[in-house]
Amino acid sequence: MEVVIVPDAAAGGELIAEAIAALLARKPDALLGVATGSTPLPIYHALAARVKDGTLDVGGLRVCQLDEYAGLPAGHPESYRSVIAREVLEPLGLGLERFLGPDGTSADVPAACAAYEAALAGAGGVDLQILGIGTDGHIGFNEPCSSLASRTRIKTLTPQTREDNARFFASPDEVPHHVITQGIGTILEAGHLVLLATGAGKADAVQATVEGPLSALVPASALQLHPHATVVVDEAAAARLRLADYFRATYAAKPAWQGL
Ligand code: PGA
Repeated sequence: MEVVIVPDAAAGGELIAEAIAALLARKPDALLGVATGSTPLPIYHALAARVKDGTLDVGGLRVCQLDEYAGLPAGHPESYRSVIAREVLEPLGLGLERFLGPDGTSADVPAACAAYEAALAGAGGVDLQILGIGTDGHIGFNEPCSSLASRTRIKTLTPQTREDNARFFASPDEVPHHVITQGIGTILEAGHLVLLATGAGKADAVQATVEGPLSALVPASALQLHPHATVVVDEAAAARLRLADYFRATYAAKPAWQGL
């Protein structure tokens, strides 16, 4: 696992946008897995700025979803499909035909999960998956004690996650209890995992992910199993890393050709 400590969230966004641009240069029709929440927004802003100034061509880019609320009505502004349309597809000028996501409105949730697994496989798999991390160490909506081999399925949010996400809803009671999420086993099949974490509130989860034991109790620790996982953190989120100085020195000495 590579850990990159950046000065702030904007620098993290730029760095990850650069990696996505490099991927698109190699593979113009790459499938980019996007995450929701506040943390990845600087990545999407950095990508949109490049598209706007003509330095990035996303003409072939395909985008897919990590997780979704179950049971919100179609078109609800806080469904993750709506959030991705607003924060990613529209700013990049991509139509819905470039997008894959699970159907959170389906009455048959297991069928919707299986259909999404099949769609991802049919699309050739995710090339680069952007991840955030919950204060409880979740990735996607894989809450603590999710199977490390799990596939796309229904999960129940912890009270902590519902509280963390209440800011997006008119009242905390409106936050759904149930979600559909790519499983940890699904996520681990992406070619490159890039987790961005910013702010002091993520420092414990980042430390447990990077330096703690591999454990279903900290779902993000599954990144330790992936051959190409990058964790980008700002100084506040890096505050509890025992190996922070080693990570800084490693990145400073990194061969220029290597990229992320
Ligand atoms: P956040 O959410 O980026 O809004 O903190 C992260 C997550 O829950 O995965």
